[in-house]
Amino acid sequence: MYNTIFPARQESCAILQGLSLTGRVFIYSKNDMIVGVPKESLAGEKRVALIPAAITALKKAEPEVTVLMESGAGTGAGHPDAAYVEAGAKVADDRDDVFAQADVILQVRTPGANPEAGALDLSRYRPGQVVIGFSDSLTKQKVVERLVERNVTWFALELMPRITRAQSMDALSAMATLEGYKAVLLAATRLPRMFPMMMTAAGTLTPARVFVIGAGVMGLQAIATARRLGAVVLGYDIRPAAKEQVLSLGAKFAELKLEAAEAEDKGGYAKAMDEEFYAKQREMMARWVADSDVVITTAAVPGGRAPVLVSAEMVRGMAPGSLIVDMAAERGGNCELTKPGEELQENGVTVLGPLNVASTVPFHASQMYAKNISTFLLHLIKDGNVQVNLDDEITSGTLVARDGSIVHPRVREVMGLAAPEKQENA
Ligand code: NAI
Repeated sequence: MYNTIFPARQESCAILQGLSLTGRVFIYSKNDMIVGVPKESLAGEKRVALIPAAITALKKAEPEVTVLMESGAGTGAGHPDAAYVEAGAKVADDRDDVFAQADVILQVRTPGANPEAGALDLSRYRPGQVVIGFSDSLTKQKVVERLVERNVTWFALELMPRITRAQSMDALSAMATLEGYKAVLLAATRLPRMFPMMMTAAGTLTPARVFVIGAGVMGLQAIATARRLGAVVLGYDIRPAAKEQVLSLGAKFAELKLEAAEAEDKGGYAKAMDEEFYAKQREMMARWVADSDVVITTAAVPGGRAPVLVSAEMVRGMAPGSLIVDMAAERGGNCELTKPGEELQENGVTVLGPLNVASTVPFHASQMYAKNISTFLLHLIKDGNVQVNLDDEITSGTLVARDGSIVHPRVREVMGLAAPEKQENA
């Protein structure tokens, strides 16, 4: 128990909560900062927000921060409590202690991204506490409201702006990289064929044909991995800019004669298109899907349902034994038949809808996530305090709520709330 080492901190947080320096800079902590890392509570979640190596980096903050881990938090990712102690962290054996002592809570999944199990923590968050993690802030609105009511200062990592300066904090991209790799391995272990071409004494084995739909971070990594395994790969994305990247990985690019110039927003993301557009896409892609042994789908529209790009009819057009890995299952799926978290058969074609795939590579997922979140925390810490500078694009772009109000314009928009006042994050 660490109550004796760290006196209860409700008072200090309450005093400093919302202290404004200039009107656009707020301080939310105090000099002897404690950073708490609870064990992830979603069933099957093996990642951890900080690994021992990241603690070493965090301890370089001036003045030094104290990291308080919940016992067992790193076990799933291969880091026992002793490794954290060696890196200079304290270990609390009680979850309540972590929430009671910490000025800053670091999680992979805040309740926004873990609505059921995470709801059990809602009463543990304290006013003024800084909370950082994945939050599904644009979709899981009920939980968003309940966390906001706790008066926490809440940053959602999925909202990280896609700018060069923020690349080392971009946890969404880090996880997508692992997921693209893992999608191909899932396919390779399930396919009744080999991936590479082989010329053997028993005859020539033709390479697998893999079609990757959506060539963002995840799709490009899937293309690269499938190529490494020797497959013949075709890639496609609605954003014309993706073509060059697909070709550079040694894959072919599927050209659809579609007016897609308007399909990319200013942030480099795909925009949601209307159903007529998606219907045309499906029609044009049907022959490539039919010709593939494996279809890996990764297409997403930020904050929205994943577009349905593979219809049930297209699945039925594939050869028996072929496979679809729908990596958009968490967002409703790119395949009409996908059942999130399940696998099913349709006319001999297997459709996989895997969930939380990054957690199946917990060691490296935690390494990358810990780098992202600790870099972000160090970005917020100035002179030993967490300073919320609304003039900073990274800070204002990820700040969902503070002092009991939702301040993020996009989160407010999806929740049907009026635009924030000028002082809030732009
Ligand atoms: P994402 O996860 O939101 O979507 C995945 C892919 O699906 C995207 O490439 C998107 O264009 C594609 N897609 C959406 N609708 C589609 C449709 N109907 N048909 C086919 N494909 C469709 O995107 P992700 O991977 O996060 O990347 C989005 C963009 O951001 C990319 O241009 C990427 O290079 C860029 N990026 C920039 C970063 C930076 O500058 N710091 C960091 C990460 C990504």
